[in-house]
Amino acid sequence: MNKPILDALSGTTCAVPPVWMMRQAGRYLAEYRAVREKAGSFLGLCFTPSLAAEVTLQPIRRFQFDAAILFSDILVIPHALGHAVHFVAGEGPRLTPLEEAGGVAALREEVDQAVLAPVYETVAQVKAQLPPAVALIGFCGAPWTVATYMIAGRGTPDQAPARLFAYRHPEMFATLIARLAMASAAYLIRQLQAGADCVQIFDTWAGVLAPEEFSRWSIAPTAMIVQAVRQAVPDAKIIGFPRGAGTSLLRYADETGVDGVGLDWSIDRIFAREVQKFRPVQGNLDPLALLAGGDALDRAVDAVRETFASGAHIFNLGHGILPETPIAHVEQMLRRVRG
Ligand code: CP3
Repeated sequence: MNKPILDALSGTTCAVPPVWMMRQAGRYLAEYRAVREKAGSFLGLCFTPSLAAEVTLQPIRRFQFDAAILFSDILVIPHALGHAVHFVAGEGPRLTPLEEAGGVAALREEVDQAVLAPVYETVAQVKAQLPPAVALIGFCGAPWTVATYMIAGRGTPDQAPARLFAYRHPEMFATLIARLAMASAAYLIRQLQAGADCVQIFDTWAGVLAPEEFSRWSIAPTAMIVQAVRQAVPDAKIIGFPRGAGTSLLRYADETGVDGVGLDWSIDRIFAREVQKFRPVQGNLDPLALLAGGDALDRAVDAVRETFASGAHIFNLGHGILPETPIAHVEQMLRRVRG
């Protein structure tokens, strides 16, 4: 049986685009909050396969999305490299800033696969329970985005600590990025082998990089990951999401070799169509239009549909759904997309 998401990633134009949402398993769902509470810690949830599989499947049961996204986090990679992560409820990730933690020298050469084994088990459990037309998307963070959290020890508005570190210590930063790229490739390969139908590389902070830094710290390591994954899994389907990349998207799509590109909501529609001529695209409803609902949501959904109707498109948000979004707005969005 065909999976519409994989058809779209192969270049098929669908009359109704397949749809899923970034962060579709999350706090806007009461059933997620219940499991999250039961799990105790956020990483405990990520590393308990039965619970992680349950929250992965919740939005599929409720909304019949065309894809499930593995429930995990991009920061399990530093964790598995020996750079411990924890999550503060309502705030976000916390790590010891990399230099205080002993720098790159203190990291493992390779990920501890024993730490990540529960994630692969989650993939297998989800795969066994998904309807055949629903794709299972695995993921990792792009090395640049993961590095920003490792260096600052938390999220920052413009990732100044990581950008400064990269200017001041380019060789050490290159070592870190290469380590993360190898770790991420190994992680994605194992997800695909466990049953993921495709994978997405989240480069949430791509947009803060100057053009040369974008080439070096976003495009080049993503290309490395794509190449390494394809070497192990030749037909692997890979989506790249360099949020905020703007007009550098064409270069990103070309030079990384990803099958599809995720678009954030801010991209110009005429330019977005140029990107779509070149690669299948995914996106790009403004998460705030989804939060607002009403006419504004209908108009925003229509604009996305009209922009991408003539080519391969996966309907999605331009970034993750916000926790305060009403369920009814998601239902409204789906009715509007699916007709
Ligand atoms: O449904 C899904 O999309 C699958 C699961 C998923 C999570 N994180 C679960 C999560 C995915 C794909 C991610 C990716 C992720 N994690 C990114 C890239 C995409 C993006 O949204 O920008 C980033 C930058 C992270 C790092 C991270 N994890 C941050 C900054 C935070 C705190 C902010 C927040 O939204 O709370 C997290 C926590 C996190 N990851 C939550 C979830 C559901 C919320 C924590 C909770 O439930 O207590």
